[in-house]
Amino acid sequence: SKEGYPHFMLKEIHEQPLAINSTLAGIEEGAFNKVVNAILDSRKILIIGAGTSYHAGLVGDYLLTSMLGLDTHTLISSEYRKYLNAVNDGDTVIAISQSGETIDTLVAVRAFKERGAKIIAISNVIDSAIPRESNYVLYTRAGPEIGVAATKTFTTQLTVLTILALKIGVATGKLTTNEYRSAMDMIGKIPGLLQNVITKTEGKVKALSEHMSKKQSAYYLGRGIGVPLSMEGALKLKEIAYIHAEAYPAGESKHGPIALVEENYPVVFSILDDDNADAMLGNVMEMKARDAYIIGLVPDKYVGKFRELLNVTLEMPSIDYRVAPVIYIVPMQLLAYYTAVARGYDPDKPRNLAKTVTVE
Ligand code: M6R
Repeated sequence: SKEGYPHFMLKEIHEQPLAINSTLAGIEEGAFNKVVNAILDSRKILIIGAGTSYHAGLVGDYLLTSMLGLDTHTLISSEYRKYLNAVNDGDTVIAISQSGETIDTLVAVRAFKERGAKIIAISNVIDSAIPRESNYVLYTRAGPEIGVAATKTFTTQLTVLTILALKIGVATGKLTTNEYRSAMDMIGKIPGLLQNVITKTEGKVKALSEHMSKKQSAYYLGRGIGVPLSMEGALKLKEIAYIHAEAYPAGESKHGPIALVEENYPVVFSILDDDNADAMLGNVMEMKARDAYIIGLVPDKYVGKFRELLNVTLEMPSIDYRVAPVIYIVPMQLLAYYTAVARGYDPDKPRNLAKTVTVE
C-alpha cells in the first residue's frame, strides 16, 4: 500500500534511509569476499546496465577507476557487442539490474559468459533471471519498488557498489585499514544524512517544481562523479515529467550546448565537495552571464561562494565525494516527482514505459 502517500514514487523516495539501512544490515561478508577475489583475479572489469542501473554503474566505474586505478569499462547493456572481442577468460562483468529481468542485460550477460567472463549480478530481486545466470550475486535490500521510476533501488545500488569498491581497495592495499574503516563509518551515516536532506529540501523543491513545470527543456551539469549523478537527475525529469532534460560534463558547455541557453533556461548544477568545485564556479558564472535560471545543489561550506549566482540554492551536507551521489540524487528525484504532479501527470505510471523491459 501507499501508506498515506499520494503515490508510490513519493513513498519510495522517503523510504530510502530505511532501504539503505536494510541493505547495510543485509551485507553478506562471504558473498562480498568471493566477489572481491574474482575481481582481483581478473584483468579487466566491465559494468553493464540499462537506464538508472547504467547510471549506478558509471558511479561505480568512477570509484574503481579514479580511486583504485582498475581497468574498468561501463556500457549500456544493449551495446555489449562493442566489447565481445575485448573480453577474455576470467575477466569480470558486473551486471546491474534492480528487477533482474531486463532482457538487454540478460542477453549481454549470456554473451559475455560464453566468452569466459565471470558474472557478478547486483539485483534487488532474489533469484530473478540475471542472478540465476550469474556466478556471484550481491543483493540490494530496498524492498519492492512499485513506481516505474527507479529511486530506492538506485541509492541502494550505489551503496553496494561503494562498499564493493572500498573492499577491493583494502584488499589491494590501495586503501589502508584506517581509510577503509573511516569510509565504512561514513557509509553508516548515509541514512541519517539522507533523512536530513529530505526534511531540509522537500518544501523548497516543491516550490521550485511550480516554476520547472512550465519549462520545455533543462540541463543537468556536473563534473567527476557528478556527471553520472546529473545523468540520473535528468532521466528522472524526462521520464515522469516529460520535460526534455540533458546531462553532460559541465566543461563541455562552451563546446556546443551553451548555444541553447537563453534567459531563464533552467540549469541544475551538482556542486560537490571535491577538486572540481572551483571549475564548477566558473561553469556557473558562464551560465549566469546568459541569464540562465540556475539551481545549485551546494555543499554547506561553499554556500557563501555560490549563493549570489544561484536562483535556487539547495544546501547539501559537505561530504566525501564518494558518497555524495547517494545524497544528492534525492532532491533531484523530488524535483522530478513534484514537477510531474504540477503538470498533472501520474508519476507512478509514465506513458510508454513499463517497470521491467522484457522485450529487446
Ligand atoms: O530492472 P533494471 O534495473 O534492469 O531496469 C533498468 C531500466 O529499465 C530502469 O532503470 C529504468 O531506466 C528506470 N525506469 C528509470 O527510472
